[in-house]
Amino acid sequence: MYHSYDVAIIGGGINGASIAYQLSKRGKKVIILEKERLACQASSAAAGMLAAQAEIEQDGPLFQLAIKSQAMFPEVSNELFDLTGIDIEFVQKGMLKVAETEEIAFELKKQTIFQKNWDSNIQWLDSKEIREMEPALSPRVSGGIFLPNDGHVLSGKLTQGFAKAANHYGAEIRENTEVLSFLFEKGQVKGVKTTNGVIHCEQVIVATGAWARKLMMESGLNIHVFPVKGECFSVKTDEALINRTIFSDKRCYLVPKRNGEIYIGATMIEDTFDRTVTLGGIATLIERVVQLVPQIKDAEWERVWSGIRPQTGDGLPYIGEHPEWKGLFVAAGHFRNGILLSPITGKLVADLLDGKQDSLLSAFQLERKIEKAL
Ligand code: FAD
Ligand code: GLY
Repeated sequence: MYHSYDVAIIGGGINGASIAYQLSKRGKKVIILEKERLACQASSAAAGMLAAQAEIEQDGPLFQLAIKSQAMFPEVSNELFDLTGIDIEFVQKGMLKVAETEEIAFELKKQTIFQKNWDSNIQWLDSKEIREMEPALSPRVSGGIFLPNDGHVLSGKLTQGFAKAANHYGAEIRENTEVLSFLFEKGQVKGVKTTNGVIHCEQVIVATGAWARKLMMESGLNIHVFPVKGECFSVKTDEALINRTIFSDKRCYLVPKRNGEIYIGATMIEDTFDRTVTLGGIATLIERVVQLVPQIKDAEWERVWSGIRPQTGDGLPYIGEHPEWKGLFVAAGHFRNGILLSPITGKLVADLLDGKQDSLLSAFQLERKIEKAL
């Protein structure tokens, strides 16, 4: 076991694992330090939607980042399978973003115009066309956008796949090890102090999701990351009830997985790290989903779970180097889209450590001023 590394990555979620994969593939000696277990937080709770078009409703740096990351999935899926044997269950059947009221239909039609700039195959479906595609939709659905590129994966498997592939290239993964603070010397990070001793390294990446603010305070920087709990449940049906993801709004979606399970999510509860799944949260989801797909009432109950999304003051992730301490980087705050954004985050952070700064990253730097907090 080494005590000295090129890079220490704090956090064994999807971002830590993806960055570790990219760096170790480039020959760096890497260690992931995880306070509990790999993929134990948001990165296994996620529904796994790669919803660049459904989740991000306007053009801008986040949308650009998302589109680029989404395009990386076919290759990531093949690479991870070849290296590790892990199948991330990538499904690319598209997504329906549906309208349940005339006002929403009007808004979605406007979005279709912007979305078509990025993908000419995106189309508005009227009430008859949408039911031809998904006959189980409720009559209250008056139409919707078909987004052919918005697929999905199993997020826990993607995290495990990145970590195992990083390990294949020599990365070490140390679980049950919490990082408490940093070691600094002459304006440069030199390592971290953990619950299991000191680790020396040349570069450190904070990829601790919703917990990034607390740790970054140890470096004197107050980044605006806060928790938003999401609760989900899943059901099973004997025969496929829906064929593709149905996305109603940010509080109700159904994702049909390859094994026949349908994931239904998710609540949005701000400012809590408590992962308790409440009856009230699940009751709200059940009410919403039955309005959308009435036959779901006959499905068999499977399981419930929750996770903590890392939201930021302006809704954009933090990806960049500390303004004062050289070698200390952050990749956190990916909120509702951390699974989607994981391949590009890994690549751009590895480039940054190699001294290459993509112009796309200027919107995500750590010292930005948040003009209008969410
Ligand atoms: P995390 O997965 O939270 O990992 C951070 C890790 O850091 C944790 O394992 C934690 O234990 C560890 N850690 C914290 N502090 C320390 C420390 N001091 N020392 C060592 N380790 C530490 N995204 C999508 O793209 N598509 C979706 O469909 C989707 N659905 C979602 C549904 C739900 C219900 C939720 C909750 C999230 C969803 N997301 C989705 C968002 C996505 O899950 C997150 O954006 C993403 O998982 C964040 O990954 P991360 O690696 O930054 O953080
Ligand atoms: N992106 C889905 C969610 O965060 O619930």
